[in-house]
Amino acid sequence: MAINFYKKIKRNISEDGLLVGSSGFLVNSMVGKIDFTKPLRILEIGSGKGPFTREIIRRMSIDSTLDVSEIKSEYNPWIEGMIQANPLKKVQLFNGCVTELLTRPEHYDVIVSSLPLKNFSRMNDQNAFLYRLIEGFKFALSDGGIYLQYQYFRSNKGDIEAVFGKEMDHIDFVPLNILPAFVYSMTK
Ligand SMILES: C[S@@+](CC[C@H](N)C(=O)[O-])C[C@H]1O[C@@H](n2cnc3c(N)ncnc32)[C@H](O)[C@@H]1O
Repeated sequence: MAINFYKKIKRNISEDGLLVGSSGFLVNSMVGKIDFTKPLRILEIGSGKGPFTREIIRRMSIDSTLDVSEIKSEYNPWIEGMIQANPLKKVQLFNGCVTELLTRPEHYDVIVSSLPLKNFSRMNDQNAFLYRLIEGFKFALSDGGIYLQYQYFRSNKGDIEAVFGKEMDHIDFVPLNILPAFVYSMTK
């Protein structure tokens, strides 16, 4: 029993990059940075069971769209349940690597990412996955669009700044989360 629990924790950290789902405090800190008063094209990456998805769906207007990217289909029941419960909201779930959604220029106004960037290969050359990923965020964001990302340590802050060619607009610290997290806001 204890061994199974330990294995589950170990798998969560190595595959998903987290111990437990994000807290309401972290969700509010990230989602609270989005101006929902205008129609938005939103991309959420790495939904898991959907703590961010639920709040984005609740706040988004009916003329906004939300694409949810999650590589693991085991979380589909949670996200599909939210989609069915909100038939007036335009929400689509995409199973697969998010890079498949980053091919259209200026396609999104908001990117909300829970991706465990630290787990990806370092950005030592322009072919590294991490580099292509952050380049993809910049490419797919509209001018003035916002990229929101949380991290437990500020491991990839410099990588994001290097690709966007500027310093973060804001970094917030959210202590009430397992683990305490930093929230990056980067506008294009
Ligand atoms: C740290 S978890 C976040 C879960 C949830 N959003 C939260 O904050 O509690 C990261 C999620 O990203 C997903 N993921 C990892 N690589 C991905 C990729 N290349 N494309 C889409 N999703 C990915 C994982 O399957 C996992 O569900």
